[in-house]
Amino acid sequence: MAALVPSPLPRHVAIIMDGNGRWAQRRGLSRIEGHKRGKESVRAVVEASRRLGIDYLSLFAFSTQNWDRPRREVEALMGLLRRFLRSELRDMLKNGIRLRAIGDIKRLPAALQHELQETCAATQHNHDMTVVLAVSYGGREEIVNAARALAQAVRDGRVQPDTIDERMFGSYLDTAGIPDPDLLIRTSGELRLSNFFLWQSAYTELYVTNTLWPDFREAEFLEALAHYRERDRRFGRVTAQVERERLRAAR
Ligand code: IPE
Ligand code: IPE
Ligand code: MG
Repeated sequence: MAALVPSPLPRHVAIIMDGNGRWAQRRGLSRIEGHKRGKESVRAVVEASRRLGIDYLSLFAFSTQNWDRPRREVEALMGLLRRFLRSELRDMLKNGIRLRAIGDIKRLPAALQHELQETCAATQHNHDMTVVLAVSYGGREEIVNAARALAQAVRDGRVQPDTIDERMFGSYLDTAGIPDPDLLIRTSGELRLSNFFLWQSAYTELYVTNTLWPDFREAEFLEALAHYRERDRRFGRVTAQVERERLRAAR
């Protein structure tokens, strides 16, 4: 059943930017051409999010498992990412956007690491919106790293095991301090998470479109947001409870 009062805009939107390879192959182009074209879609969703007042936009750019792709494709992606950061940095600063990188950054080529660190540092005082770039990121890896750090903290006597709760565990994840995504968009039709935000997506609304990432622009983004606003987010409760709270909050 659709909600009686539409949900507000999502505070945090996460996107699995998938389908670059298929976009290119359908046109007889190399997969890398598809990755190049994906850049325009990134710009479109960042600009639309900024304008609409979305606080956090997370973009899954490269997964831990993507390291297993052919070396040429991996190298091309790393180069594209670096050039993207360099060329878009000025716009990000101008638009008041802060960049945060999550994932196993140390595994990236030194030049890309450097570019990421510089961009994150240069934009750290911007407060209009945060773009979270997930590169060399995997949800399971992130959870294992958090468990390892917590185990170490317990061994050092800094944490008592019975004080570990969801909030504390979340503070050991790469996304510490970032609210869970309200909406997760996946382009190009695949009905899976592919190791993205496993912990964070417990109550996230999922939206999958067949549109391939290079074709996903503002109109498609707005459509996803419109779908989200029709959703009835119950968090395990019943609709009447949720509606009552929403009306109370709106007063
Ligand atoms: C998404 O597009 C970009 C990355 C995973 C880096 P793909 O490269 O996965 O494109 P498809 O899914 O093969 O079409
Ligand atoms: C998920 O897409 C990762 C990114 C979009 C960065 P994949 O193309 O790697 O996912 P699978 O292989 O189809 O599950
Ligand atoms: Mg893919």
